Amino acid sequence: MESFKSSGLFTKQAHVKIPEGHFEEEHGRNGFFGRVSHLYHAIAPVTWTNIEGDLKPQCQPPMFNDNLKRNKFEPILSNDDLVINIGFYTKSFENFYRSADFDELFFIHDGTGRIETSYGPLEYTKGDYIIIPRGTTYKLYLTTETKILKVESRSEFEQPDRGMLGPNALYDQTAIVTPEAAHGSEQDKKEYKVEIKRLGKITTVTYPHNPLTVSGWKGSVYPTKLSIYDFCPVTSHRYHMPPSVHTTYVAKNFVICSFVERPLEEHETGALKVPFYHSNIDFDEVLFYHQGNFFSRDNIDAGALTFHPQGIHHGPHPKAFKNSVAKTRTDEFAVMIDAKRPLIPSEWFSNNENKNYWKSWL
Ligand SMILES: [Fe+2]
Repeated sequence: MESFKSSGLFTKQAHVKIPEGHFEEEHGRNGFFGRVSHLYHAIAPVTWTNIEGDLKPQCQPPMFNDNLKRNKFEPILSNDDLVINIGFYTKSFENFYRSADFDELFFIHDGTGRIETSYGPLEYTKGDYIIIPRGTTYKLYLTTETKILKVESRSEFEQPDRGMLGPNALYDQTAIVTPEAAHGSEQDKKEYKVEIKRLGKITTVTYPHNPLTVSGWKGSVYPTKLSIYDFCPVTSHRYHMPPSVHTTYVAKNFVICSFVERPLEEHETGALKVPFYHSNIDFDEVLFYHQGNFFSRDNIDAGALTFHPQGIHHGPHPKAFKNSVAKTRTDEFAVMIDAKRPLIPSEWFSNNENKNYWKSWL
């Protein structure tokens, strides 16, 4: 049973009118859905002078650079529920592909082209989320070079429950694009190869015809496309909403959230305009910076990614509080992946991270 207690200095409303010279920390369970306490610190909890061990907040500088091999996906963080990959494609896929291991979510950071699938083609452009159900055969055809954040999931991607927001909140069902049945466009080859991934290994199957041969389909399993620019954020001028209101997709043991441009809380109301400090004790938190000016963090540019493991605090950089006073809007777009089970960085991640990121709160 929830039993609410309090002691000393605190506010009547969380995230609003924080006592002068104090910093609010949220100590919450189950992401932002569970029980919670707020602690009012005289000194922000990120003023460490040293961190020894694995829990340093981690950061990738913009990742689509020369350290990233072209035309393949590079895994960067993973656990038993999901694998986060990045891919910088300068040419179309060589072969068709099908995953027997994962449902897949592509976030198009930049570029244009077309994904031809068993269900028909989907044109893509910057800001699109494309979901490919496990078992779908597809091939990526580029129009321009394409930068992708890809999440492979052991479970299906589903829409969040809108609850009291009503069914049209966040994004309408008509904002979701589905493919029109069509055969594959390439018809002039002698043979066509399909690479199928199972247990991480590739099996290659060759056909004498394009494997995309569907003239029609019906049902409730199909690829989808949703633009991050169609995501409607839930905001309040008097209260800093928790990141969970930006939930775009849910899967087993993780969520995908979209942070998009929006008005900030009004200064006059005393509402906090930057995220509160938290250690997000039940989730590892990954943030991919897509577009805009990320004013709550110093030196973060589009294409960068931060990883804040469970158990260590994070929150705005010191300058952000000052910078936020005059700001009335944010133009930032970012994709957050919150994972319930600890994520393990890949060798590529460790080789390319900014090792000094943890010092950025000093
Ligand atoms: Fe966070």
